[in-house]
Amino acid sequence: MGSQVRGVQLARLLGQWHALPGRRRSPDYAALAGAVRGLLADGRLPLGVRLPAERDLAEALRISRTTVTAAYRELRDSGHLASRRGAGSWTMLPGTHRVASNGLWIPLDDRDMLDLGVAALAAPPELLPAARAAAEDLPRYLGGAGYHPIGLIELREAVAQGYTDRGLPTSPDQIMVTNGTQHALDLVLRLALAPGGGVLVESPSYPNALAALSARRARITTYGLAADESGWDADLLLGTLRQVRPRVGYLIPDFQNPTGHLMPAELRERLVSTAHAVGTDLVIDESFVDLPLDGTVLPPPTASFDRHSRVVSIGGMSKPFWGGLRIGWIRASAPQVQRLAAARVGVDMASPVLDQLVAVHLLAAAPAIATARRAQLAAQRDALLGALAARLPEWRVTVPRGGVTLWAELDGPISSALARAAEEVGVRLAPGPRFGLDGTLERFLRLPFTLPAADLVEAVGRIAAVRYDLDRAGLPRWREPSVIA
Ligand SMILES: Cc1ncc(COP(=O)(O)O)c(C=O)c1O
Repeated sequence: MGSQVRGVQLARLLGQWHALPGRRRSPDYAALAGAVRGLLADGRLPLGVRLPAERDLAEALRISRTTVTAAYRELRDSGHLASRRGAGSWTMLPGTHRVASNGLWIPLDDRDMLDLGVAALAAPPELLPAARAAAEDLPRYLGGAGYHPIGLIELREAVAQGYTDRGLPTSPDQIMVTNGTQHALDLVLRLALAPGGGVLVESPSYPNALAALSARRARITTYGLAADESGWDADLLLGTLRQVRPRVGYLIPDFQNPTGHLMPAELRERLVSTAHAVGTDLVIDESFVDLPLDGTVLPPPTASFDRHSRVVSIGGMSKPFWGGLRIGWIRASAPQVQRLAAARVGVDMASPVLDQLVAVHLLAAAPAIATARRAQLAAQRDALLGALAARLPEWRVTVPRGGVTLWAELDGPISSALARAAEEVGVRLAPGPRFGLDGTLERFLRLPFTLPAADLVEAVGRIAAVRYDLDRAGLPRWREPSVIA
């Protein structure tokens, strides 16, 4: 989206803005203003964007212009819109907001907020000793300039060993260290995708990956992933690849964010051979690969089926260890790594030496840390599932066998409305449409199980209260059927 959003685009983002099931209907202008605020709060509508002219939005929404005028007035009054006569209206936020860890804007007084918008764990206890040990190692590097565009050799060795241990022989020249997996994706896209190039992604998918693709002005085609355990429909996925022949495919086969699905080995193999046949490069995001639960056995890495350097794997420290480290990596062919390093100097030169040394120490302790993380995540997931079954039994969930999130199918297209209501009772949610591109997925909600079990149970209680309050606030009366003539 550029600096101006057209009426039809905003209408698409707004989706079902006035259809809150069971809720006593507020005036249309207030519902419209509330829905625009919701889009701003969850990042689907950026700040500083010029909103459509009132007439344009009224036409796109098929409502009266006075409703739009009143909604814009309310947004101006609440500090969400700045208007200049004759020039237009721009989105903004009231001064009492700040940027949250996930990059979204939130109110300042949120100390008691239970944040289910971020799917990441707090740091493990091993982090501090690893940081101390890294500081001891630092003098070895202080005699040099400190720029290592592809990363410290000891970290690249440790990461390469991790792939080799998973059955994918890898040498350190095939690894480039980055500032997190998100940075890895951005760098790979810079190299693999010209502006306007075609990309295939799953829907739902990871919102910040969608943001990276939009920033490259990618032409995005989505492929629908099932919410239930059936996951990827092989014929549909491969058929879409053959038909669209995108330049790049971005997929998360290992405990997909947000669904938690795990792609079976056979489909991985077919995916790689089809991608090669149609000239598509695959970017495989392995953010959650270290977090299988319930003893789930991992299929071979997707890149292990690659014979033609079609697959670039990206991953990092954030999910098994800590997001605050900002250490990720790319696994590609050695010549690709050299090209990525050349591209990187125009971005950030290199990753911090000290953080890489911390990563080396954590990876040395990885088996013990990962075991504890898995036990913690399984217990938290089960607490979340138990609370959902008790308080929101109409919601359908598939038990994820790994990763940190579950993807709940709600009892109506209420995800954005629920997120707005939950915010008022101190629970931050990432509504379903954040994980897609076109304002759909309103029937779904991603729920991470990264908070302590007691917080998850409390959060579900609050969500259930607002869900049922919505109903109690104004039970819809049955209307007499009207005659259509
Ligand atoms: C699928 C996926 N890719 C990338 C990232 C970003 O990870 P990092 O913190 O390593 O940049 C995340 C974080 O949630 C993720 O879920």
